[in-house]
Amino acid sequence: MELKILAGSANPDLAQRVAREIGVGLTPVELGRFPDGEVRLRLVESVRGADVYVIQPMSPPVNDHLMEILLMADALRRSSASKVNAVIPYFGYARQDKQTKGREPISAKVVADLLQRVGVDRVIAVDLHAPQIQGFFNIPVDHLSAVRLFAEYLVREGLTRDAVVVSPDAGRAEEARRLANLLELPMAMLAKRRTGPTETEVTYVIGKVKRQRPIIIDDIVSTGGTIRRGVDALVEAGARPEAVVMATHAVLSGPARENLAHPAIERVVFADTIPLEDAGGYVVLSTAPLLAEAIRRVHTHRSVSELMVAEGPVDPLFSNP
Ligand code: R5P
Repeated sequence: MELKILAGSANPDLAQRVAREIGVGLTPVELGRFPDGEVRLRLVESVRGADVYVIQPMSPPVNDHLMEILLMADALRRSSASKVNAVIPYFGYARQDKQTKGREPISAKVVADLLQRVGVDRVIAVDLHAPQIQGFFNIPVDHLSAVRLFAEYLVREGLTRDAVVVSPDAGRAEEARRLANLLELPMAMLAKRRTGPTETEVTYVIGKVKRQRPIIIDDIVSTGGTIRRGVDALVEAGARPEAVVMATHAVLSGPARENLAHPAIERVVFADTIPLEDAGGYVVLSTAPLLAEAIRRVHTHRSVSELMVAEGPVDPLFSNP
């Protein structure tokens, strides 16, 4: 079956890199807007019988990018593609994944339903906000992790001496544990209390951080408030003011850049699931080799789980230049 890769408008550079890794060109799509802002698209060439991968994170503007995926999947179905795989490096609408108060939607479930409704056969995602989002789908979800990329970077840069891996809240504890295991470092966690939809406060630091370099790992940096408050709490608890902040998805909204300019943050490292218009000062690690390998394995019916298991020694399986 022929393998085809399509890109929406959210991260064409990443799609291009993935296609190059695999050794195919991007299948062209005419993508535009009607004068009122509606998404308009057309597949330029035949996809009949093909195994198609649409690469599109749900980065801002989220609704537009989500709509593009839905319309592309519909066009592919109607054009007799054999398989429609949605490669969604950043899966948006994931933060409302349960009702924390009455009368709230479960937005992640709505998005999962929409994707299946338009005929998506499989989803490939990186660092879902909550792994249980996989359960909202009745189709396979390959959940990849950038944790190994981060571990390899830290080793390459010699940043692991006298360091402690810090989870900014209970939700990221599992990822932090994986990173700590890969690097054979201790782990600490921040107790975070949500005080509003976008506001949180750190109540205390769990674990030993005194005189250690904190390596904070999160899935998303949105406003950067979680990180700023986390770094304040860590410094107050005696950690070295040389934090490394690592996050997969650089959503970066509102005061994010000001918050990340915290004097106790030495380095900020993102994956490239969301393109950064201005990466000035931030390190960006590419997920293209990881996504390309996942696509190759899905296409040839080989195990993807080896890519998901982030345990084991750090030797560059997917090294970034
Ligand atoms: C929350 O549970 C997430 O893992 C992130 O910590 C959060 O979304 C970051 O948001 P912000 O940067 O606005 O504090």
